[in-house]
Amino acid sequence: MNITIVGTGYVGLVTGTTLAELGNSVYCVDIDEKKVEGMKNGIVPIYEPNLEEMFLRNIQSERLFFTTDLKEALDKSEVIYLALPTPPGEDGSADLSYVLKVAHDIGEMMTEYKVVVNKSTVPVGTADKVREMISSKTNLAFDVVSNPEFLREGFAVEDSMNPARVVVGSSSEKAKEIMAKIYQPFTNTGTPIIFMDEKSSELTKYAANSFLAVKITFMNEIANYCEKVGADVDKVRLGMGSDDRIGHRFLFPGIGYGGSCFPKDVKALIKSGKDDNFDFEILQATEKVNIAQKVILSSEIEKYFGGNLKGKRIAMWGLAFKANTDDIREASSLDNIAILLEKGAEIVAYDLIAEENVKKLLGDRISYANTMYDALEGADALFIATEWPEFKNPNFSLMAKKMNNKAIFDGRNMFPLELPQQNGFYYKSIGRKT
Ligand code: UGA
Repeated sequence: MNITIVGTGYVGLVTGTTLAELGNSVYCVDIDEKKVEGMKNGIVPIYEPNLEEMFLRNIQSERLFFTTDLKEALDKSEVIYLALPTPPGEDGSADLSYVLKVAHDIGEMMTEYKVVVNKSTVPVGTADKVREMISSKTNLAFDVVSNPEFLREGFAVEDSMNPARVVVGSSSEKAKEIMAKIYQPFTNTGTPIIFMDEKSSELTKYAANSFLAVKITFMNEIANYCEKVGADVDKVRLGMGSDDRIGHRFLFPGIGYGGSCFPKDVKALIKSGKDDNFDFEILQATEKVNIAQKVILSSEIEKYFGGNLKGKRIAMWGLAFKANTDDIREASSLDNIAILLEKGAEIVAYDLIAEENVKKLLGDRISYANTMYDALEGADALFIATEWPEFKNPNFSLMAKKMNNKAIFDGRNMFPLELPQQNGFYYKSIGRKT
């Protein structure tokens, strides 16, 4: 099948590459000429494990193409995926201007039947808005389908090649058949495809992300209470997670959820609810708890140093919002850096993958180390903000030698409780004894 993907951000690029890998001819459209030129020359604009290999293979096999010309791509394709940004506006609502602009252009440019697929996370009712926009520009037949993406950064290739489910919201039988054909390679091997109406599909995406955000936040509150009563959240987590109605996944407490999805989607669902006179109380509480959780360790550091952080050198291991990504959007590291700098501390950070992105944002307001151990040179405390695997089993005696003061504030519960303590460190983690 010939498919156009409009928007080569995270979701667009991974979706396009996956659909090419499944044997389709995929035309990726973006307005950013430099980016398109780069991709034509085999440059993947994002960091994602295993993506580059698949991307290059499909360019070479002439199944994956890049252009800035929407009309050219449109003329070749029956199916158009929209994978455009929907950034939160001031009030938290998703900004649909990119999506609607492209819908407008599709309406003006199309010359025969098209299926327009909303892949971006969009509020309930967006398929109707896209439909209205296109039909204001053309009398030709078309269908609008909602087909949310559930991939995780860092596992995007794995998730998109082995989806747990495919959700398709469509009220048109013709469009459903076309979507079923696209995803046949998955359904053939047992992946369920769940058809529903457009609105339910749009809400499924928000409900899934918000539920996971609630799950993490619930665990963070249990962790904080564990500290109060002297319980150990690791034990509680194992005990709870063994019930398969609860499950072990997404029960890891830490310094709050970040990234480009959960904070944005929780906010957007609260806002949509408000617009419909509906109060998502559980989500409002989740957002509030998460904001506080992100900076919980900065208060602990301040307490540890008797309220005075002036001139204290804090090493920070990890800057990305989670491991296996260079993404720093809504990363807890940034909230803590802001507070610690404000209180007069110095920060030396180490994160080989995310460093460039932080440099663009903070420049030389913090310094950057080449290795995790270099960051510790003369440090008064270590703050672990991201769970990169290389931090899991460090050389504690080397750490002790490098540091000026042996204190670890671990936002990701990286070590068994006893380990740093046996090595003479003050060790503050989340939901466990200090
Ligand atoms: C999330 C969802 O997991 C995907 O299913 C969804 O498709 C995606 O959003 C999206 O909407 O595009 P992602 O933002 O890549 O994916 O990251 P997650 O792996 O879900 O992690 C989100 C945040 O929760 C991170 O800050 C992570 O550190 C935190 N987290 C996750 C915890 O604090 N504890 C956990 O147990 C799990």
